[in-house]
Amino acid sequence: MEKTIDETKQGNSLQLDNKPQNTRKLFIESYGCAMNFSDSEVVASILQEQGFNTTQILEEADLVLVNTCSIRDKAEQTVRKRLEKYNAVKRDHNPKMKVGVLGCMAERLKEKFLDEEKIVDMVVGPDAYKDLPNLLAEVEAGNDAVNVILSKEETYADVSPVRLNSNGINALVSITRGCDNMCTFCVVPFTRGRERSRDPQSILNEIDLLAIQGYKEITLLGQNVDSYLWYGGGLKKDFKKASEMEQATATSFSQLLEMVAVAQPTMRVRFSTSNPQDMTEDVFHVMTKHKNICNHIHLPVQSGSDRILKEMNRQHTAAEYLKLVDKIWEILPDCSISQDMIVGFPSETEEDHQATLDLMEKVKYAFGYMYKYSERPGTMAARKFEDDIPEATKKRRLTEIVDAQRKHSAFRTKQFLGKTTQVLIERESKKNVDEWSGRNQQSIVVVFPKGDNKPGDLVNVKITNCTSATLIGISTPSNAHES
Ligand code: SAH
Ligand code: F3S
Repeated sequence: MEKTIDETKQGNSLQLDNKPQNTRKLFIESYGCAMNFSDSEVVASILQEQGFNTTQILEEADLVLVNTCSIRDKAEQTVRKRLEKYNAVKRDHNPKMKVGVLGCMAERLKEKFLDEEKIVDMVVGPDAYKDLPNLLAEVEAGNDAVNVILSKEETYADVSPVRLNSNGINALVSITRGCDNMCTFCVVPFTRGRERSRDPQSILNEIDLLAIQGYKEITLLGQNVDSYLWYGGGLKKDFKKASEMEQATATSFSQLLEMVAVAQPTMRVRFSTSNPQDMTEDVFHVMTKHKNICNHIHLPVQSGSDRILKEMNRQHTAAEYLKLVDKIWEILPDCSISQDMIVGFPSETEEDHQATLDLMEKVKYAFGYMYKYSERPGTMAARKFEDDIPEATKKRRLTEIVDAQRKHSAFRTKQFLGKTTQVLIERESKKNVDEWSGRNQQSIVVVFPKGDNKPGDLVNVKITNCTSATLIGISTPSNAHES
């Protein structure tokens, strides 16, 4: 099952958070990773203070913002199509409408955007959202406005996000920004800058507020959560310059995870994304200790070939990765593991591809996100290697790994047949209005007849049937406790 996250799109907020005194209307949509969706909530909060409420109706917006993704060329094309749509709406319905581009594409293309896309009034990189009030003033004065300065400190710790498109149950909480890993294919270090962690106290405060508002599950977000480190400052590259005292008392990811789990024992806690090279055993021990931390680890590997892993600048071999997977299952036997995979990286041979299939066969991931390599300008891979795998070959290899994943997902879902699994109800099932849909700890979707339950309830569901992606069951009367 291929899920291309860059095609997911967020509509606009429920009107719950809107302020009655605000008169201006903001239409904001997000593409790409969860961090973008989380950032849009920060942006909505900053603009709420400038008199903007969010709207779902594009035609009536005073300001349209699109939070963009650069991870693959396809993601950028999707955004360009949206800009065409805004252009048409502006022309036909709302000539006063202003349009701004946020996020990774803004950072990558900078001023070029203003030339290429005549409709764009404002270009704002991921670390410049606090400058939005000034940039807006520029736009209102009839000028173009650009701020794509990357920061070494900005974590938006002091901004309380306006929850967009929320079901009131699941919330995203960002804990780090940027990435220092420099995988050769990846544009993120260029568009999101140096890796920095957020003050743990501000993370705990944000989660406290979410608990008061009735949220039931939080996902701690970062490009590489295992690398989280707060030592009074959060800039990763300066950790070694910190005093001995600061280094000795620093908060690591496993410590942060434990602090969150202890502070909110009735909330489910998830985290994403884990990087094999930075993940350490102490995280698994914290997960066993606190039953509210969900038994799921998203652990991208990208390839099963040691040669390709090296060219990708991933700091581990396939064998080391498999050792880590074994360790996870030794400590957390019920933990599900999911993957990200890239096929068709420059020079990938059939043998390399087979190594990826072999690794998948060994792990039998619960689910995964699989992509064809897309050359990103400016990355080390683009500079060093030719994008030499023919499109047809990339396509075939993608089909092969997607098929393998489907088989492994089916293997994993079948393990639940006849068993009872705990589900946090998130919404009505899209396929059947008489059924609820939620996820178990392993992050597998479960659907079952509604009964007396409601969204936000944690219920035990006995699994009677399954597809490769979904568990189907009936809720059992006993009260659920996470286990
Ligand atoms: N650490 C990040 C990874 C960011 S990108 C996180 O938090 O998710 C998400 C996935 O996109 C990567 O794991 C990789 O599988 C894929 N990806 C990144 N750059 C790519 C490229 N140039 N071509 C194809 N896929 C890519
Ligand atoms: Fe990208 Fe590698 Fe960081 S995939 S986000 S450079 S861990």
